[in-house]
Amino acid sequence: MKALVIGGTGTVGSQVTLELRNRGVAVAVMSRSADRFASLPSGVEGVVGDLQQPQTLPPAMAGVDAVFLATALAPDEINQGLEAVEAAKAAGVRRIVYMSVQAAEQAVHIPHFATKIPIEYAIRHSGLEWTILRPNNFFQNDFWVRDAIVQAGVYPQPMSARGLNRVDTRDIAEAAAICLTAHGVAGRNYTVAGPDLLTGEQVAATYARVLGRDVAYVGADLAAWEAAASKMMPRWMVLDLRIMYAHFLEHGLVASPGELRDLETLLGRPPRGFEAFVREFFSAGQAVAQG
Ligand SMILES: NC(=O)c1ccc[n+]([C@@H]2O[C@H](COP(=O)([O-])OP(=O)(O)OC[C@H]3O[C@@H](n4cnc5c(N)ncnc54)[C@H](OP(=O)(O)O)[C@@H]3O)[C@@H](O)[C@H]2O)c1
Repeated sequence: MKALVIGGTGTVGSQVTLELRNRGVAVAVMSRSADRFASLPSGVEGVVGDLQQPQTLPPAMAGVDAVFLATALAPDEINQGLEAVEAAKAAGVRRIVYMSVQAAEQAVHIPHFATKIPIEYAIRHSGLEWTILRPNNFFQNDFWVRDAIVQAGVYPQPMSARGLNRVDTRDIAEAAAICLTAHGVAGRNYTVAGPDLLTGEQVAATYARVLGRDVAYVGADLAAWEAAASKMMPRWMVLDLRIMYAHFLEHGLVASPGELRDLETLLGRPPRGFEAFVREFFSAGQAVAQG
């Protein structure tokens, strides 16, 4: 069996690649730039392809049995996802696993949640064997704010008083690898969420406990988040994420007990907890972010 990982140089896709390779699956990673292939894990093939240039997709998908698809945040994300599905169908790919987002249809006012709906629809109606993974907010997003946490002692990601069932991207990757290779998982949606319902204060308190220093939650100040984010990302992305964080502040992103049970059944173990992640990557002496 050969799998193609679209988004395989990204946060989740790189871990999906490792999971598949470690299961003995022949893996190819698609990237827009061949420069990125030098850092692929050994035994993994690199193929150049760009979802914005559909003519690059048939060669990338030739001989591929299963596709993992992550679509990056982009103003034309829907079109990129639809092109990926069309190319997979045309290439005779048998199975596709798509990384969407938790509860997309309940928050279609968030631009990059709404974009997932037509891509999910196209996948369900593609005729391929499909599984849709719908992750909560990643633990690993915190690598982006490591300096704020460790040096300034503040946790800046807006989160709600209701809480989010944030998730470790390694659990998403393992779920993806299972869905790409196992029987009996096709035609299903899985919410991929962690076991702890975390408020902003609880996240900050976990960092404070592990780091042995004060860490204050400052994420409720959306205007401050926007001012900081505007220095790091394009305007369209700031506007998109500001809507998402306003939604998180009001509603949280909560997984149901049934959703958590289904994920545990899929993984064959409980998903990773937040404090274990913080201890693994933020304990004293760990100066460099790892993804
Ligand atoms: N962050 C969260 O908490 C969270 C939670 C739930 C769902 N999600 C979803 O996760 C997705 C992002 O996944 P991620 O964080 O793993 O990705 P990421 O780290 O942002 O990496 C983006 C990947 O997409 C590839 N890519 C970008 N533009 C491309 C194009 N035109 N053609 C082909 N490949 C392209 C990049 O490859 P090259 O640069 O090498 O070409 C890279 O591998 C989004 O859809 C987001 O909504 C995120």
